[in-house]
Amino acid sequence: MREALARACANVALVKYWGKRDELRNLPAVGSISVTLADLVADARVSVGGRDGPRFIGHGRAVEGRAARRMEEYLDWLGRELGTAERLSVEVDTTFPVGAGLASSAAIHCAVAAAAASVLEVAVERGRLSALARVGSGSAARSVYGGWVEWHHGERADGSDSIATPILDEDAWPVSMVVAIVDEGPKDVPSRDAMRHVAETSPLYAAWIASQPPDLAAMRDAIAARDLEAVGTIAEENCLRMHAITFAARPPIVYWSPVTLAAMEAVRGLRRAGCTAYFTIDAGPQVKVLCRPGDAQRVAKTMSEVPGVVRTLSSSLGPGVRLLEGATPWT
Ligand code: DP6
Repeated sequence: MREALARACANVALVKYWGKRDELRNLPAVGSISVTLADLVADARVSVGGRDGPRFIGHGRAVEGRAARRMEEYLDWLGRELGTAERLSVEVDTTFPVGAGLASSAAIHCAVAAAAASVLEVAVERGRLSALARVGSGSAARSVYGGWVEWHHGERADGSDSIATPILDEDAWPVSMVVAIVDEGPKDVPSRDAMRHVAETSPLYAAWIASQPPDLAAMRDAIAARDLEAVGTIAEENCLRMHAITFAARPPIVYWSPVTLAAMEAVRGLRRAGCTAYFTIDAGPQVKVLCRPGDAQRVAKTMSEVPGVVRTLSSSLGPGVRLLEGATPWT
């Protein structure tokens, strides 16, 4: 049996991916920009040539149901794409809850793609690795790189130009993200299903697509200027717009709980008190707060005092995907 072990960090979008132009390859309807987080980490050990048994083990236990089927299909696709008919299996560990709107699928699928290329000894460029990761989960395309990252919508039908590129690495402009965990359980509606439902039924979907290029341009400028107030303002507006089109679907999907709203209000309170802090929220109730590293402790304390917040996680920006065991398959 041959094995490789890769580590990838989760990423959180500040300009969101919400909607696809191709569901099979996870080609996005819009571009997106994210930050990669050092302390939300997934390790994936991919093996080939092993004995029969569960092919997807998470935290030491065989994963079952839809998540297992999805991973098996992805492993089979990766194998074909990387030129093998051998059976791939994976063991995954994460430092944070899975399936709760904390971008676990991004970190996991990015690490799986990197470990698979390594164990199969296929040399891939980082752009190709991003495309391979994207097919597992769209947002995984961005975890290939550290720091500030853009994932391009792309034009080609095969998706070869829908890949991530780095904007700034993690040391170029350090910021922190504090995650206020409201509910550690799995989300009610997976992002995949919600995106389809919103595209099909939300009367606001077309306006969302049209509003994304200006947000991306403004975000690129704000990052280039190292302007955290501008970055945060664009991120909050973009997040609220993503949730607004989701509320407007028929039937509506609401990822927020009353605690989410209280946490958002706490962030506004921090700002009124002179702290540069801005929220973003993904497909779950957790509230992620962008701030300066020097303010992270204060932000975490305020967020942990919001009634209903279970706990907080704080992270600086982290690196792109890397191999822990096995040869690095990219240059
Ligand atoms: C709200 O990447 O999990 O976090 O491509 O169907 O696997 P699939 O979806 P996924 O969606 C992430 C949605 C989001 C916004 C974002 O990360 O940009």
